[in-house]
Amino acid sequence: MILAAKNISLSYESTIIVPELSIFIESGEIVTFIGPNGSGKSTILKALARYLKARSGVVYLNGQDIQSMSTKKVAQQLAILPQTPQAPADLTVVELVSRGRTPHLNWWQRSGANDYEVVRWALEQTKTTHLADRLVGTLSGGERQRAWIAMALAQSPQVLLLDEPTTYLDICHQLEVMELISRLNRELGLTVVMVLHDINQAARYSHRLIALKNGTIIKQGPPQEILTEELLTEVFKVKAQVKTDSASGCPVCLPYGIVE
Ligand SMILES: Nc1ncnc2c1ncn2[C@@H]1O[C@H](COP(=O)(O)OP(=O)(O)OP(=O)(O)O)[C@@H](O)[C@H]1O
Ligand SMILES: [Mg+2]
Repeated sequence: MILAAKNISLSYESTIIVPELSIFIESGEIVTFIGPNGSGKSTILKALARYLKARSGVVYLNGQDIQSMSTKKVAQQLAILPQTPQAPADLTVVELVSRGRTPHLNWWQRSGANDYEVVRWALEQTKTTHLADRLVGTLSGGERQRAWIAMALAQSPQVLLLDEPTTYLDICHQLEVMELISRLNRELGLTVVMVLHDINQAARYSHRLIALKNGTIIKQGPPQEILTEELLTEVFKVKAQVKTDSASGCPVCLPYGIVE
């Protein structure tokens, strides 16, 4: 198990968002959280990345209590693309992406040939090479999102956490990002834990879905096993048909109404 949360409860101040939750992520898995707005998806991702300390329970990264690890050690193994990443607007794309190398350098070290090569690779993978010298603050929403994904990739993580990585992206760039994630998973064994609102993309690209409501897991498992009309009604309060895509064998949801 590469990443695990055992009996964690999460809160902001005194408001409990996640009462008690356990999650186990195997190396090489693509796991996607689905659930309504405010159900705690981003909160859980933050806890898995050590951005948020659990009130109780423990998060383990490669078997180590994440709270006992240095920021640098965590960042060598795990990268996160938050839902709303922040960066100084006067940074260029290549400077932003190069920041992904920081956990791999010692304080006396400057970037070496290998670091430049990884940055070049990350720009290429996310089709942002032509934006390298642009200021991050001047990019379109989709361009900026791809630059952030490039930074996370430049970190060379074993585990990549992505909070709505396809937000702002047009349909072609959405598919490119999903295909990239899928390829990195297959070829490099990258473990991916993400949040997606597009259930059909989640079903298509994930080995396992975790359906959340009010900070509680309603169901988890392979998409073809758990994605049912009943689940969509229970979790999202929508009426939907669930069909099977004959080409991919994946379930496809067709929402047609709201449960009153
Ligand atoms: N920093 C914060 N301080 C206080 N409450 C917060 C904070 N961040 C999130 N919350 C609250 O915690 C709950 C869960 O938020 P979270 O961002 O985890 O939801 P989410 O499932 O990611 O939703 P979305 O799909 O809208 O991104 C929400 O009620 C939200 O208002
Ligand atoms: Mg969120």
